[in-house]
Amino acid sequence: MQDYRELLAEIIIPEKELQARIRELGKEISQDYQGKDLLLICILRGGVMFLTDLMRTLTVPHNIDFMAVSSYGSGVRQSSGQVRITLDLTTSIEGRDVLLVEDIIDSGHTIASVIDLLNTRRPHSLRVCALLDKAERREAEVPIHYCGFVIPNKFVFGYGLDIDEYYRNLPFIGVVRPDKYLAPE
Ligand code: IMP
Ligand code: MG
Repeated sequence: MQDYRELLAEIIIPEKELQARIRELGKEISQDYQGKDLLLICILRGGVMFLTDLMRTLTVPHNIDFMAVSSYGSGVRQSSGQVRITLDLTTSIEGRDVLLVEDIIDSGHTIASVIDLLNTRRPHSLRVCALLDKAERREAEVPIHYCGFVIPNKFVFGYGLDIDEYYRNLPFIGVVRPDKYLAPE
């Protein structure tokens, strides 16, 4: 695999800015969930970096759990509508105050399907916390209660987001060079 610098057009959110915004989100979430039974659900794999940084900023007690989904279509961006659970939660969410932690909302289909599915399990409340919102590309209506950054319609990577499963470790959000990588539709 090539060095990420060969694929990087620009850093759109540097590490400092990311961490500062995450601290703000953590503050807001901590206020909103005081006295509640908070369960953070991270959608693998892109949400991992965000989850671990976000939870360190929370001052309210909470649990974490993980799930992974894949789309029925072949699109790498999982934008074809219905999703299939490839890894389910280990805990019951009935009566819990659930906060879904996602890396990016693009078309919105993935998170919309996850919301539909989790609602059948009767949580007390269900909200979405997304680090990035590619609002221009939205096809499914999704309520994003906590949003880190609205970003332009460009393919981004780093901080959990991958290019063909690589570069998730980068501490910033970068835009890919269109001449070097063709983003999947
Ligand atoms: P949606 O169902 O179209 O909202 O797709 C959401 C998923 O597509 C995200 O969880 C990411 O895995 C992936 N995705 C969307 N846009 C990007 C991007 O710019 N870079 C990397 N992955 C992306
Ligand atoms: Mg994802």
